Amino acid sequence: MTDPAVRQAVRDLLTVPVRDESAGYLDLLEPERSGRSPSQRLMENSVFAAVYERAWRPVFTRLFSLGGTSTLVAGRALTGRLGRPGDRRVLDVACGPGNFTDRFARDLTGDGFCVGLDFSTPMLARAVADNDAPRAVYVRGDAHHIPFPDGSFDSVCCLAALYLIGDPLRVVDEMVRVVAPGGEVAVFTSVQTTLSSVPGARQALGMGGFRIFGRDEITDRLTAAGMRDVRQQITGQGQYVLATAPHDD
Ligand SMILES: C[S@@+](CC[C@H](N)C(=O)[O-])C[C@H]1O[C@@H](n2cnc3c(N)ncnc32)[C@H](O)[C@@H]1O
Repeated sequence: MTDPAVRQAVRDLLTVPVRDESAGYLDLLEPERSGRSPSQRLMENSVFAAVYERAWRPVFTRLFSLGGTSTLVAGRALTGRLGRPGDRRVLDVACGPGNFTDRFARDLTGDGFCVGLDFSTPMLARAVADNDAPRAVYVRGDAHHIPFPDGSFDSVCCLAALYLIGDPLRVVDEMVRVVAPGGEVAVFTSVQTTLSSVPGARQALGMGGFRIFGRDEITDRLTAAGMRDVRQQITGQGQYVLATAPHDD
């Protein structure tokens, strides 16, 4: 269960008033302020939310490994890094059922906490029911308008979600806005490969609301937004990107 002092610290940081918190997360949105593509509707389904972590995520990770080195290995390395101990603030954008938020929160110390941000009520209901890290706080909000001030977090990630989001590059800009000087931004998402370049594949996936990013689309956006040391690792059909925010001069 979330530590009440940690919850209050997150509440104090928000730039948008909390509408409701009776469900265990801080809800900032109108009741049906969510996406409408087929894949977004899936994320709004409570049965899907219930099976997401055990059944869907592992299958999806294997699909992402097709034709290349294992996404699983790179994923473990990145989530290990994001979950390192310390007095850090972490933001998990589009956290789904909190599968990583909880892990990133576990070893935090001092004033550290991890916020899981998502706009799906079924996903957040699972996040609250299935996880118990005292330093994890769940917020219902829209990733296009991250409800925190500039430079609020030491680590900001968005894993397995940018390809579902309406305006993903705007979300990348928002992630850069809320990362602190010297902090890190991490992304796992789709990338154009030989396999996904098969005629019709991109369009078919697009109709389902699943976007395939151009090889340099995410890295170029991070660089244009001022991030340094932008590193990309392509694993099969996915890409891991890690970038560092410049220190204040
Ligand atoms: C496939 S899940 C990813 C969950 C988790 N990050 C993971 O790696 O397993 C994608 C999540 O993105 C969320 N999402 C999509 N668009 C969003 C938006 N505009 N704002 C907040 N969350 C969004 C969905 O509700 C869903 O929970």
